[in-house]
Amino acid sequence: MYQVRLLPHDVTFATDGEQTVLEAALNAGIAFPNRCQVGACAMCMCRKQQGEIRYQLEPMLTEKEQAEGWIFACQAMATSDLVLQLD
Ligand code: FES
Repeated sequence: MYQVRLLPHDVTFATDGEQTVLEAALNAGIAFPNRCQVGACAMCMCRKQQGEIRYQLEPMLTEKEQAEGWIFACQAMATSDLVLQLD
């Protein structure tokens, strides 16, 4: 299990690394922004400040966005503990 810390509200939830970050947040009762859940709408975009993820479906992010740490929570699975920032 990995711990995901979500800023700025500073809530923490757990994920097994098999479900997406979004699924884990919703299962924990956290109102994580989302709509399509298939990597298309960008509602779930957040910034990774710490940790590592892998994707089930690689989202379309520019190199600049990737360098800034933007991830799609509905496609990302944790491979370590994470710190994420919602704007
Ligand atoms: S919920 Fe639409 S891209 Fe993630």
